[in-house]
Amino acid sequence: RRRVAVLISGRGSNMAALLAAAEDPAYPAEIALVLSNRAEAPGLAHAAARGVPTAVVESRAFKGDRAGFEAAMQAEIARHGAEIIALAGFMRVLTEGFVARWDGRMINIHPSLLPAFPGLDTHARALAAGVRLHGCTVHLVTAGVDEGPILAQAAVPVLPGDTEASLAARVLAEEHRLYPAALAWLAAGRVRLEGGRAVVDGAAGASGALL
Ligand code: GAR
Repeated sequence: RRRVAVLISGRGSNMAALLAAAEDPAYPAEIALVLSNRAEAPGLAHAAARGVPTAVVESRAFKGDRAGFEAAMQAEIARHGAEIIALAGFMRVLTEGFVARWDGRMINIHPSLLPAFPGLDTHARALAAGVRLHGCTVHLVTAGVDEGPILAQAAVPVLPGDTEASLAARVLAEEHRLYPAALAWLAAGRVRLEGGRAVVDGAAGASGALL
């Protein structure tokens, strides 16, 4: 099983979905570390309660020193022998150097159907735009924020009367399904890059891009 570091900043519900999936011994990844840039992230307690190693590297302590912050994170990740990084609501932008070091081995989940709505406040922006479909995306992390090759997407309808909260909840349920599936593909060595796009070997449909 490939060893994975999950990086969080807050609630950690996607992290919890990955932990739950990895409890199955047949799952191709194990969670070697949950690392937070905030000591008060609620996800840390959830991970610790399940016996998963946790660490905190306070981004606040490294104000203006992104290289130092990332070096401290890298040390924790290496100490736990992680080979793959899964960003799960990790709200710091990573430098090109860190991204390059983890090229092809770091994934992120984003709460929109990329390339629509990169960045923050995706659900409010989807409502404001009047889109009829919204969703979530798992992608490989590259230097451009929310721009890496797409591994998987799940779509949900936007319904009349939706609020930011109701739409976020509908998307989040799909995130919890999508992220464990996409991490399993990467950990099992089923992800290839072809012309800058990700191809998932043996996945159903159009390279498993839609679950
Ligand atoms: C999730 O919706 C995730 O997609 C999003 O933050 C939330 C974290 O929730 N990520 C981003 O916006 C990344 N830019 P969680 O902590 O419960 O997984």
